[in-house]
Amino acid sequence: MSIGEERLQRRMARGAAFLGSEVAVLCGAMSWVSERNLVAAMSNAGGFGLIACGAMTPDLLDAEIAGTTALTDRPFGVNLITMHPQLTDLIEVCGRHGVGHVVLAGGLPPKGALEAIKATGAKVICFAPALSLAKKLIRSGVDALVIEGMEAGGHIGPVSTSVLAQEMLPEIAETLPVFVAGGIGRGEAIAGYLDMGAAGVQLGTRFVCATESIAHPNFKRAFIRASARDAVASVQVDPRLPVIPVRALKNAGTELFTAKQREVAGSIDSGSLAMAEAQLQIEHYWAGALRRAVVDGDVEHGSLMAGQSVGMVTREEPLADILRTLLAEAASALEARAA
Ligand SMILES: Cc1cc2nc3c(=O)[nH]c(=O)nc-3n(C[C@H](O)[C@H](O)[C@H](O)COP(=O)(O)O)c2cc1C
Repeated sequence: MSIGEERLQRRMARGAAFLGSEVAVLCGAMSWVSERNLVAAMSNAGGFGLIACGAMTPDLLDAEIAGTTALTDRPFGVNLITMHPQLTDLIEVCGRHGVGHVVLAGGLPPKGALEAIKATGAKVICFAPALSLAKKLIRSGVDALVIEGMEAGGHIGPVSTSVLAQEMLPEIAETLPVFVAGGIGRGEAIAGYLDMGAAGVQLGTRFVCATESIAHPNFKRAFIRASARDAVASVQVDPRLPVIPVRALKNAGTELFTAKQREVAGSIDSGSLAMAEAQLQIEHYWAGALRRAVVDGDVEHGSLMAGQSVGMVTREEPLADILRTLLAEAASALEARAA
């Protein structure tokens, strides 16, 4: 083992022990993409895969967990969206399968969710978009946090990864494992965040074009062609609308989303739609649009959720090769620290 590899292993030891994986790299859950094949490929490669439950029913999640277990005997987790109307049933399904790690995404967990997950014996990981919320989540008993910057693909917050990492890691990284996500395309960045105190990292965009990913060939081709500046955040047309920005490759679907917002705003004006229902409609829109692109291959009208690291995705290759490259880059960056 080289000095760099040894340093990398040491810096990832805490995160890897928490996850039960060889290395502290998570493949972030991606709706429609992160199903059994990608999840098992990630865990089999020594990282940590996450099933994206998204809008799945409890029965579908049950089948997906069973399907994943058939493909890997290594640990993997499940990502649940807090606003899912059947959250309690989904937690029960995870518990029945003995899932070891549940990630709660999409806002602060509703009352009782953390306790319900912990009662199954699983560890809970939450997203912390700001320091104050991180402290609140720590008080509520969360086991680990992900801090994700606006460079990421999918739903994003307003602050960049580099700023979140500087602001939050010195305050919370000693208390619990913190995984940094958003905009990571190469191992040098992984080494950097580990040096800053991160227990590990989470990447999404970089893994979309893994050979094992079931994303439609058109979806993968769009990723391979795109550069960083093509991955843009959605705009909010009406300040009243509770729209969480989404980062995706610019296409005709970008305009369709603007039209959808106008339609929803019109329904609020006419009194036919309440605000909470409006938010749900927008989220359903995204789920449908992403499915259209990932599953059906409609890269014009569907949503091509992608992070700014998309420019560093240059070909389709086995997931184990992508992970190996990232780790080698991280190790060689750490090796250079000795000089
Ligand atoms: C196509 C796509 C779909 C995503 N879907 C979800 C999701 O359903 N739930 C979630 O918590 N995060 C989702 N994400 C975010 C990823 O889990 C991950 O945190 C993010 O991709 C990390 O940033 P990066 O894209 O810069 O690597 C998605 C990202 C992408 C690119």
